[in-house]
Amino acid sequence: MDKAVELRAGIIMPVLVSDGLEVLAFALDAEPDVVRATGVCLNDEERRRAAGLRLERDRRRFVVARGQLRRVLASRLGLSPSDVEFEYGPLGKPQLSHRMPACDLRFSTSRSGDVGVIALSTTQEVGVDVEAVLPVPEADEIAALCFSAADYGSYIALGPEDRLEGFFRRWTRLEAVSKALGCGLGQPISWDEKDWLVRRFVPRRGYIGSVVIRNWRSRDVTTH
Ligand SMILES: CC(C)(COP(=O)(O)OP(=O)(O)OC[C@H]1O[C@@H](n2cnc3c(N)ncnc32)[C@H](O)[C@@H]1OP(=O)(O)O)[C@@H](O)C(=O)NCCC(=O)NCCS
Repeated sequence: MDKAVELRAGIIMPVLVSDGLEVLAFALDAEPDVVRATGVCLNDEERRRAAGLRLERDRRRFVVARGQLRRVLASRLGLSPSDVEFEYGPLGKPQLSHRMPACDLRFSTSRSGDVGVIALSTTQEVGVDVEAVLPVPEADEIAALCFSAADYGSYIALGPEDRLEGFFRRWTRLEAVSKALGCGLGQPISWDEKDWLVRRFVPRRGYIGSVVIRNWRSRDVTTH
């Protein structure tokens, strides 16, 4: 697996930076005073959402993730974190409100275990997904159901020692594309691998992430 950075609570670390695309990572499990300070910028709707979560751990992780997202976006927009406004797509995809300056700044977020990530793109729609690499007993069945024929074929051909990582590589890529499209996994998606630039990253040892942006060059090639 790739070299991982050391994530610490309350500190945002870049894990991938490349022409107009950035992925930032942070730890979600923080001391109560860090959680309070990070979450102070949340709006009423976000506070209600946090309060509706049953487990204290989930409330804390949501508050830290949303607080860090507000901070990151605010620093790019030259605003205060509490002034960042979001809009939501039909299936819940968040984006900057059209009232924000530079609202063409695109972002996507993901959380797994104690790790939160934010992907930013200044050029085009972006999707990110991170997962803790833990055993998935039903991985083969999920792969058969969700992966494209080509992905399933290459997955099932892997030896037992490569299967788990191979599953999460393909899974995070699929989720990242779903998020870039704004549809999530509740819906079947049809996507062409050559339309997406995929970058893999390791925000912490034992985790795998994928970030995708549209590959407009492939579109240029096919249309001209
Ligand atoms: C979006 C989705 C893929 C999230 O995956 P996940 O692995 O559970 O969670 P992640 O931590 O990776 O991502 C969550 C983030 O994705 C973003 N998100 C939510 N809905 C999204 C959507 N439709 N498209 C893109 N991004 C979305 C949010 O930023 C969310 O962060 P938040 O919970 O802090 O607000 C999943 O919730 C899904 O399939 N949603 C589709 C909506 C849908 O089918 N709804 C049916 C309701 S019955």
